[in-house]
Amino acid sequence: MFDVKKELELSTEHEGLVIGLFDKPEKFTGILALLDEAFNGQLKELVKSGDISAKLKSINKVHSLGKIGSKRIWFVGLGKEKEFTFDKLKSAFGRLFKEVKANKLEEAAVYLDSFTTEQVDGLDAAHALSEAFALSTYQFEGYKQKSNEPEKKLDHLTIYCDSLDGEEVLASLTVGHAFGKGTNSARTLVNIPGNMLTATDIANYAQELGSKYAFEVEILDKAEIEKLGMGAFLAVNQGSTEPPKMIVLKYQGKDEWNDVIGLVGKGITFDTGGYSIKTKSGIVGMKTDMGGAAAVLGAMEIIGEIQPEQNVVAVIPSTDNMISGHAFKPDDVITSMCGKTIEVLNTDAEGRLVLADAVTYAKQHGADYLVDVATLTGGVITALGLHTTGAMTNHEPLYKQVLEASIEAGEQMWQLPLFETEIERVRNSKVADLNNSPGSEGHALVAGAFIGEFAEGTPWVHLDIAGTATSSKAYDLGPAGATGVMTRTLALFVERFEPIVK
Ligand code: BES
Ligand code: MN
Ligand code: ZN
Repeated sequence: MFDVKKELELSTEHEGLVIGLFDKPEKFTGILALLDEAFNGQLKELVKSGDISAKLKSINKVHSLGKIGSKRIWFVGLGKEKEFTFDKLKSAFGRLFKEVKANKLEEAAVYLDSFTTEQVDGLDAAHALSEAFALSTYQFEGYKQKSNEPEKKLDHLTIYCDSLDGEEVLASLTVGHAFGKGTNSARTLVNIPGNMLTATDIANYAQELGSKYAFEVEILDKAEIEKLGMGAFLAVNQGSTEPPKMIVLKYQGKDEWNDVIGLVGKGITFDTGGYSIKTKSGIVGMKTDMGGAAAVLGAMEIIGEIQPEQNVVAVIPSTDNMISGHAFKPDDVITSMCGKTIEVLNTDAEGRLVLADAVTYAKQHGADYLVDVATLTGGVITALGLHTTGAMTNHEPLYKQVLEASIEAGEQMWQLPLFETEIERVRNSKVADLNNSPGSEGHALVAGAFIGEFAEGTPWVHLDIAGTATSSKAYDLGPAGATGVMTRTLALFVERFEPIVK
């Protein structure tokens, strides 16, 4: 996939050569001076006239017409050097690789030194490159008889880097690529339709992931779930012919099983809403209701690759939410695994029910810290739109670590409040300890507050990705469809995690 070399000779043959161009590149030095010389001063002219632009993310292809070994040169505009950031570089690389792929290249070379500044060094640039490469060239194959996969695949990059040790650059490329690939795995899980990805399929996928990375795997079947008394999880599955699965993966990166991070992901493979049925337009797309599970599995893949010195237990409750003569109904009262009873007011508020038992089970597996990820509410879209994940917490220091990871990963999140007023609304039932839907006002908040009732005293962060798990449009780092959001944030959070002194 990646080759790292030193000393780029312009006579070396590549299908394409990629050079970064900062604004004002009048001082043509280094590689630019050499290229300009090869082009008899024409390159400088093209930059001056704006035919080759240094504007951020502008991608300019120039044919070399035999003047150098590479057939084409791509100049990647990087904007002002002082305003340059890691995220900008990732986006620019994303645009670049989409173009290079569209040009049906199988191989290209990148002169990495031309992408570095004081703020973004060569190792950061290498990570940005390989992560952006995986993310931006991702494509979901789909099921058309005529495959839309190109015959030619861009699968080899030569990275020229003079300023750094080649081994270190390769290590950074490998890590960046792992982050990209883990995210792509999450995207694929979300893109697969509900008839092809049941709870059993997700369990099998997790089992394979576990074998690959030597995770301890536990898959609870329906009988075991019943035995453990996971009444909230079971209620959601009650109308289905597909059996539920409680999926547990354990990664032990420390000698002792302590300071355990619990990652909990909503794994609803299709959400009809149940008897509180969705509208005919609202129901389309509900195959993506396992986006939280996908993010957790994607993060576990990255964790398996980078092997951080941390302990992680991943818990995924998976089922669909269907209607039949057996299905649960509004007014039903159910008993969760921890004993708390719940009055069901809305069967479409199913995510919080399956998460309730999953959170309890994660604690039983020793989780000292909890992060749950879920496509939980339309309310979070009303509050924050389609580009920002909504967060809630009962523990600010833990949230700070999640937030910092999200900033580093380039995934936006914003905190929503967990006030007593909303906790009271969740606890308001004449017949049970809790109710699952206390009205639509601020319903992202009450959904989070409900899960908080099961986290109890354990430090916990809740991430509502209903708005961010999919994108209706293509963007620099991916196509329309599943985004794999929070995969990288979770993996980075785990990698950088510092136990909090209690
Ligand atoms: N899976 C949905 C939330 C959702 C909505 C995800 C849109 C992706 C896009 C969730 O289970 C749900 O139905 N939530 C309800 C809660 C309500 C009944 C309190 C909602 O948001 O309308
Ligand atoms: Mn629902
Ligand atoms: Zn749902």
